[in-house]
Amino acid sequence: MKSRHFVMLLASVFLVGACERPEVSASALRPTSATSVSLQDLMSALVDPAADALWGAVSIEITKEGPVAQHPESDEAWKELRKQAVILVESANALRLHRPVVAAGGNVEDTHVPGVYSADEVARAIDADWAGFNAEIALFQRSTEALLVAVGNKNPAALLETGEKVQEACESCHARFWYPNAAKAPVK
Ligand code: HEC
Repeated sequence: MKSRHFVMLLASVFLVGACERPEVSASALRPTSATSVSLQDLMSALVDPAADALWGAVSIEITKEGPVAQHPESDEAWKELRKQAVILVESANALRLHRPVVAAGGNVEDTHVPGVYSADEVARAIDADWAGFNAEIALFQRSTEALLVAVGNKNPAALLETGEKVQEACESCHARFWYPNAAKAPVK
């Protein structure tokens, strides 16, 4: 009887401990996937072209005659642009999957520049600070959702403004996980 109480006591201590500190497995936070599509592929095939299309869609040019604003004119043009915004928003989800940083035998762009990580260093930095990488993704995702709203509202001023926030989010992640020690960003 005595020993049974002891076992129950032990069990309850264990349960209380488990409740206080819920153990979340790393794989639940970072789903694995069988994809061979690398982080670099995502950047060059999805993220970069979609961002370029959105950033290029609105501009204000200062001419001798004064500022000239350019933006999508037709509903059709806004509809096409929305597809790029959707790609950008969804790329954040794709970034959450565990995947190679580069394809086998490849390396990170500008890795020869002092302060720019190699593909292995990028992988180690992400593995060592998955929470930090996830926080960068969350920042990026929030900024792209705001941009999607601006495009949905066909609002050029809001598109300019949210586009800038997206750019800050790109830069924030790059500065932490790509070129943390570079004197200046190696890419335009
Ligand atoms: C959550 C982190 C993160 C976000 C957000 C992010 N990037 Fe990246 N990006 C990286 C990392 C890490 C690398 C370097 C490793 C690599 O190339 O695989 C990279 C590489 C790149 C490259 C080089 C690809 C190549 O061909 O070598 C481009 C271009 C790029 N990003 C553009 C962007 C743009 C534009 C945005 C925002 C619209 C963005 N990235 C947002 C993490 C991020």
